[in-house]
Order: sequence, then structure tokens, then C-alpha cells
Amino acid sequence: MEPLGGVAWPPEPIKTERLVLRESEARDRTAFVELLASPEVNTYLGGPRPRDEVERETPEVPERWPGSFVVELDGTMIGQILLRRATKHRPAAVGKADLGYLFLPQAWGFGYAAEACAAALDWFDGVLPGEPVVLATQTANVGSMRLAAKLGFTEVERFEAWGAEQWLGMRSPATQST
Ligand SMILES: CC(C)(COP(=O)(O)OP(=O)(O)OC[C@H]1O[C@@H](n2cnc3c(N)ncnc32)[C@H](O)[C@@H]1OP(=O)(O)O)[C@@H](O)C(=O)NCCC(=O)NCCS
Repeated sequence: MEPLGGVAWPPEPIKTERLVLRESEARDRTAFVELLASPEVNTYLGGPRPRDEVERETPEVPERWPGSFVVELDGTMIGQILLRRATKHRPAAVGKADLGYLFLPQAWGFGYAAEACAAALDWFDGVLPGEPVVLATQTANVGSMRLAAKLGFTEVERFEAWGAEQWLGMRSPATQST
């Protein structure tokens, strides 16, 4: 995966009804460490990384690159949205923008992920109009599968990788994200 190219970055913070999407700041570091080290968050992402290793390797201002949005609720980071350019991937996905999302467990189940992803996809449609977006997730990741469907992604294929069934979905540019 590579950062999205060809976009002005960072954009002005994106405000939704309840959330703000913005570039990362030093005050988000603890939440980033938690996202990488949490067993719950990483159940379907290959497992958590050792917390001490993450603490050591996370820079003072983490994940500052075009396409990485911090999602903030009431002034505190609750998740990250990643829009990246797929490099090594399934043939149907190579070269396309790829959506990823990680939220802290205490923020699950309130529709925050759907609200934030819809806003990020709206932003994407504005800066790279006409481009499709792909998304890969384990089929066992029920919450992620539901979220993908809600955002307008439809199945391209299922495939086996990393010892599990994976789902590749695509959102065509004409599909509304909300
Ligand atoms: C995937 C993830 C972002 C979903 O977050 P969330 O806050 O629960 O999502 P939302 O509240 O916006 O819910 C989206 C939809 O999924 C449903 N959903 C969420 N978790 C669910 C679960 N475990 N089982 C069934 N449905 C679930 C919600 O009910 C909602 O559907 P609805 O509007 O039809 O009711 C969150 O679980 C997460 O961060 N997981 C860890 C990281 C991860 O696996 N990311 C996927 C990488 S590809």
C-alpha cells in the first residue's frame, strides 16, 4: 500500500454530525498505540503487536500521511480511517484506492465508523472524482462486513489468504456512500 497521491493534504478538518476527521497530532499517540496493541481491534487483522514494541516504534506524531484520517469524538481520537493506493493486492484491486478502518472497542456499535467512513468517501469523491474504492476484510469480521455493505461496497470475490477467507469489495464511483 502507498499513500494516496495527487491530493492536497491535509484537507481542512471534516466535520460530521458527531465527529471530526483530521490529520494526526501528537496527542493521538496513546490511541494509536492502543489500536495496534489491542487484541480486540486486531482479532481479524493478524493479531496485536506487542505493546512495548509499539510504544518503542510509534513516532511522536503517528501516521501522518495523505489518506490517514484521525476520527475524533468530543476532542478525543476514537479511530483511524485509511485511504491508500493498493500496490501488492488482488489483480482487481491493484492501483485502486483502498479503504481501511480501525476503531477503539469502546467506540464500537454507535454508528461512528459508518458516519466517519461515509464522510471520508465523500471527501475522496470530491478530490478524485470517478475513482472506485476497494476494501478487503475477513468474512468472519461480521461488523466490518456489515459496515462495507452499508457504505455501498459490493462483492468482487472471496479468496483464501493468511489462513482465513477474505472478501474483496468495490464501491463504484456512481454509488452513494450514505
Ligand atoms: C469494523 C468496525 C470499524 C465496526 O465499527 P462499529 O463502530 O461497530 O461500526 P458501526 O457502529 O458504524 O456499525 C456499522 C454496521 O455494522 C454493524 N455491526 C458492527 N459490529 C457488528 C458485529 N460485531 N456483529 C454484527 N453487526 C455489527 C452495526 O450494527 C452497523 O450495522 P447497522 O447500521 O445495519 O446496524 C470495528 O468493529 C473495528 O474497528 N474493528 C476492528 C478493526 C477491524 O477489524 N477493521 C476492519 C479492517 S478491514
